[in-house]
Amino acid sequence: MSYQDHRRDYTKGGLSRDDLHENPLVQFERWLKQAIEAGLADPTAMVVATNDESGYLWQRMVLLKNKDLVAEKSFVFFTNYSSAKAQAIDYSPRVSLHFPWNELDRQVIVGGVAEKISARETAEYFLSRPRESQLAAWASQQSRPISARTMLEQQLKAMKEKFAHGDVPVPDFWGGYRVVPDRIEFWQGGVNRLHDRFRYYREGDVGEPTWRIEQLQP
Ligand SMILES: Cc1cc2nc3c(=O)[nH]c(=O)nc-3n(C[C@H](O)[C@H](O)[C@H](O)COP(=O)(O)O)c2cc1C
Repeated sequence: MSYQDHRRDYTKGGLSRDDLHENPLVQFERWLKQAIEAGLADPTAMVVATNDESGYLWQRMVLLKNKDLVAEKSFVFFTNYSSAKAQAIDYSPRVSLHFPWNELDRQVIVGGVAEKISARETAEYFLSRPRESQLAAWASQQSRPISARTMLEQQLKAMKEKFAHGDVPVPDFWGGYRVVPDRIEFWQGGVNRLHDRFRYYREGDVGEPTWRIEQLQP
């Protein structure tokens, strides 16, 4: 089966320099709000690309979980600190994020450095999760092989019994990362493949960054 005829036109309108906020995190929130309002299935889903010790690149989706992205000046997600992605981040904290908002003819690509958030911030989020999700975090040794799904179900059952009474504590192998961006690109599909691309480059201090904006050829 050939996929060569699968294509569509991008007609949702262009993106110009005047549309852009000076702060890319404010600009990102504008677009994310529109993605949420448009009813996208997973508007906060982002692909995280990492580079591991053997030079192997890998990607996977996680969910954006900031409380206040503009104030935090970073992109936060939660995961298992022993997972393959966590080991890759330990080796090389430089990561890339990708938000594929195809229904809006848009994508946002972030380059930055990942660091663990504080145990207090992790606990605050973990305790807000449904109990089933808390138990699932305990039950999965994420990224490790299993011989059968029943093993996972047994592990979940064991955790349910272990934490039958009271709150489920935060696993010490689980928590958040923040990705502090130094590049953010906004891409809007255009008519006749003349797409609009603007990339922000961080300059100056991480705490008080200024951003230079460049327009790129599609
Ligand atoms: C829509 C979606 C959201 C996901 N959200 C998360 C998440 O927030 N955290 C997480 O650890 N895994 C999440 N996953 C699973 C990851 O994609 C991945 O399978 C898992 O984290 C293991 O990755 P690793 O072995 O490369 O570390 C999500 C998957 C999908 C498709």
